Amino acid sequence: MVFIKAKSYEDLSKKAATIIAAQVLKNPNSVLGFATGSSPVGTYKQLIELYKAGIVDFSGVTSFNLDEYWGVPITDPNSYYAFMHEQLFNHINISEDKIYIPSGIGDDCCKNCAEYEQKIKEKGGVDLQLLGIGRNGHIAFNEPEEVFSVATHQVKLTEDTIEANARFYNSKDEVPKTAITMGIGTIMRAKSILLVANGAEKKEMLEKAFNEPVTPSNPASVLQYHNDVTVIFAD
Ligand code: F6R
Repeated sequence: MVFIKAKSYEDLSKKAATIIAAQVLKNPNSVLGFATGSSPVGTYKQLIELYKAGIVDFSGVTSFNLDEYWGVPITDPNSYYAFMHEQLFNHINISEDKIYIPSGIGDDCCKNCAEYEQKIKEKGGVDLQLLGIGRNGHIAFNEPEEVFSVATHQVKLTEDTIEANARFYNSKDEVPKTAITMGIGTIMRAKSILLVANGAEKKEMLEKAFNEPVTPSNPASVLQYHNDVTVIFAD
C-alpha cells in the first residue's frame, strides 16, 4: 500500500494522471478501469493534457467503467456514459469500440451484469483500476452491506449516496435509485488500484478504511487485502 499526500487537488490530479500515463507507456494495450464522480475529473483533465502533449497514446487502451445508473440510457446527460465522454473520451484517441460501460437499460439486469463481468475476463482483466471513495466508504456503487459482493450486480443506492449525487440533478427525487456496478470481487481482481480522495470528509473515510478492521460495512476497507494499492489524497 502506498499513500501519497498531495499538496492540492491539482497536485493530486497530476500525480494520478502520471501513474495512469506510466501504465499506458509500459503497456500501450493496457486495460484501464475508470470511475465517475467529482474526484477523478482533475485526473481526466491532466490525462487529456498528457495526450495533447504527445506523451501518451490511448489508441491501444481498453477501458471498463465501474458503474452506471440503472434505467438511464446513454443519451441521458446524467448517464455515466455521457459523463465519461464529456470528461475524457471525447478528448483523447481511445477507440470507441474499446470503451466498456455497464449498460443501464434492458429487460434483464442480471444478464447485463453477467455479460459485463464476462467481457472483463475476455479482455484479460483490468490492469489499473481508478477509484474514488464515497462518504459512506463505498467503492464503485458497492454500498455498506453484510457481505462483500463478488461480481458485477445491481444495487439499491443508499439515501446517503442519493443525497450526495443529487448535486448533479435538479432535485434528490430525480436521482436514480438503483445502479449496476462492478462487485468488490471484480475490483479486487484488478492487478493494481489507484484511489484518489480529496477533502477532509474523504480523509476521515480513508482513515477508517485503512486503519480499522476490514468489514463489508465499510466497503473500501477490503482494499487492505489488495497487494498493489496506491492512495493519493489531498486535504
Ligand atoms: C463512481 C464511483 C463512486 C465515486 C464515489 C465518490 O463511478 O465509483 O464510488 O467514486 O461516490 O464520488 P465523488 O468523487 O463525487 O465524491
